Amino acid sequence: MEEFDFEAYKQMVKDHQDNDEPTSWCDSIYKDARGDYTKVFWADLESNPYLLQYLKKNITKDKKAIVIGCGVGDDAKSLSDAGYKVTAFDISPSAIDLCKKRYPHSKIDFLVADLFSYPKNWRENYDLVYECNTIQILAGKYRILAREKISSLLNKGGKAVISCRSRLLGKQENDIPKPLDKKEMNEFIHKDKLKELIFTDYYDNQEPAVWHFFAVYQK
Ligand SMILES: C[S@@+](CC[C@H](N)C(=O)[O-])C[C@H]1O[C@@H](n2cnc3c(N)ncnc32)[C@H](O)[C@@H]1O
Repeated sequence: MEEFDFEAYKQMVKDHQDNDEPTSWCDSIYKDARGDYTKVFWADLESNPYLLQYLKKNITKDKKAIVIGCGVGDDAKSLSDAGYKVTAFDISPSAIDLCKKRYPHSKIDFLVADLFSYPKNWRENYDLVYECNTIQILAGKYRILAREKISSLLNKGGKAVISCRSRLLGKQENDIPKPLDKKEMNEFIHKDKLKELIFTDYYDNQEPAVWHFFAVYQK
């Protein structure tokens, strides 16, 4: 199998970001998998363990969840299994094709959409909004816009569940992906006026281990 060239990937993303094209490269990652969801380099092929733990403790029925940048669909599947009525979207048509092929009989509504221009009727419509690793692939103003759009999907009492790579303030400024710092996370509270219910950090099981944040905010 061809080895994934991480340096070439980072340069490709940087070139797009420098041209103010924040997301036009995303579909290529899924296209390169040639119909095999196991070949998407950033897909863990399992749900985030902190999301699973959260869902175990927060049993639900008849609630609506939306998954931002759902990738190959693992987290959407876990939310659906936990009882949510799930909409899962991605800007990449190839990602959504992989999800539909992977889960042909699922009740999840997998669809192509752009977080930055989502359908109007999604606004303030969801009990749970799940974001995992999308903000971190964006740069500059698009990170802020993404956070605002994520918060805008919440209904009153709705919860934003956020999972991402993390960094110390002022560090790793040029990384791709660029992890979130605590100040960016706190904007969910200070700018979007959400209440922090859970905030935790942890190291994953990669070699070397990567530092992450997992947080839940409520409107
Ligand atoms: C790093 S991947 C993470 C995928 C998945 N959430 C996971 O954790 O495996 C980021 C995802 O966000 C999607 N994405 C990026 N910008 C988006 C946007 N504006 N609207 C919808 N999806 C977007 C990408 O296509 C990609 O699937």
